[in-house]
Amino acid sequence: MIPVTKTFLPPQEEYNSYVKRAWDKVWLTNRGELTIELEEKLKNFLDVSNIIITNNGTIPIQIALKLFGKGGEIITTPFSYVATSAAIVWENCTPVFVDIHPDYLTIDETKIEAAITPKTTAILATHVFGNPCDVAAIEKIAKKHNLKVIYDAAHCFGVTYNNESIFNFGDVSTCSFHATKLFHTGEGGAMFCNDADYHQLYYSHNFGHNGPLAFHGLGINAKISELQAAMGLAIFPYMNHIIDERKKVVDFYNNKLNFNTVQALKIRENTEWNYSYYPVILDSEETLLKVLDALAIENIIPRRYFYPSLNTIEYTKGEKMPISESIASRILCLPLYVGIPETDLENIVQIINTQTLQ
Ligand SMILES: Cc1ncc(COP(=O)(O)O)c(C=O)c1O
Repeated sequence: MIPVTKTFLPPQEEYNSYVKRAWDKVWLTNRGELTIELEEKLKNFLDVSNIIITNNGTIPIQIALKLFGKGGEIITTPFSYVATSAAIVWENCTPVFVDIHPDYLTIDETKIEAAITPKTTAILATHVFGNPCDVAAIEKIAKKHNLKVIYDAAHCFGVTYNNESIFNFGDVSTCSFHATKLFHTGEGGAMFCNDADYHQLYYSHNFGHNGPLAFHGLGINAKISELQAAMGLAIFPYMNHIIDERKKVVDFYNNKLNFNTVQALKIRENTEWNYSYYPVILDSEETLLKVLDALAIENIIPRRYFYPSLNTIEYTKGEKMPISESIASRILCLPLYVGIPETDLENIVQIINTQTLQ
């Protein structure tokens, strides 16, 4: 089978050498030395002011919403993974959707102000597929209306915008280190923030602990285990290799797909992208289903990222979002991972080019 992605695994002995350290110390969690070492390495690699590693990429969104959403209305994107909207509803906030830009697929910043009400507390936008939102415009709106900005940057490992880590924008950015992501710890994630919010977020991810017997507000358990940190440390040396190899696959698709019949993602100007996904937008859902069937015959299984448009999910009770709904019905993410054979890429391109012409 050729899946949409394949987990990158380091040589097992390299993973084992980190696990042995946890074994020797008999220390498996509670921010052990492997977790702290990984945080330090990632902080330098990503060039961020602060990082708190968490046990997945959803809980940091929830923590940020708990602290800054305060049960209010959250301006958000309908085009993202379901975790973005679900976190809002889970935290007893109300999602207020704003439609997306048809090329960048990120929230349309020109439509945000019209959706703000006295109940709005925050903006939660996704840098979808690692493509940055218009962070400058969003910051301006947030300042004007005294709103917090949370970025779901689950897809953004290594992305820079205007030569700065994309994680440094907004009040809080979150990332996912799920096994399907560029950098991973099996399950895992992180939140990034400025100095002013760091302690509050840090306490929140560890039950609110401020010392063994003291508490600083409400908290939850969002800690990673040392076994997960070991995976991150073992993968870390391969990050540049992973990004380089993924770039080769993206270049292949860019050179070979017929862009008269498929639309590619437009990466925002001044972005150093991470080649995290290869979405193609087809002319109709009918064509998409035809392409899926033709690929399935060859055991090629891309994914309908992201479908459905989140405003159409029963519990979000969203208004109509014509652009997001249209894109969600026609978008497909193509197989993209380290080691995918060129013959498979040839096959994928040939099927898509043929099917979209008919
Ligand atoms: C945009 C987006 N946000 C949040 C998440 C949630 O991350 P996790 O699976 O690590 O909880 C994902 C996961 O794929 C995602 O794609």
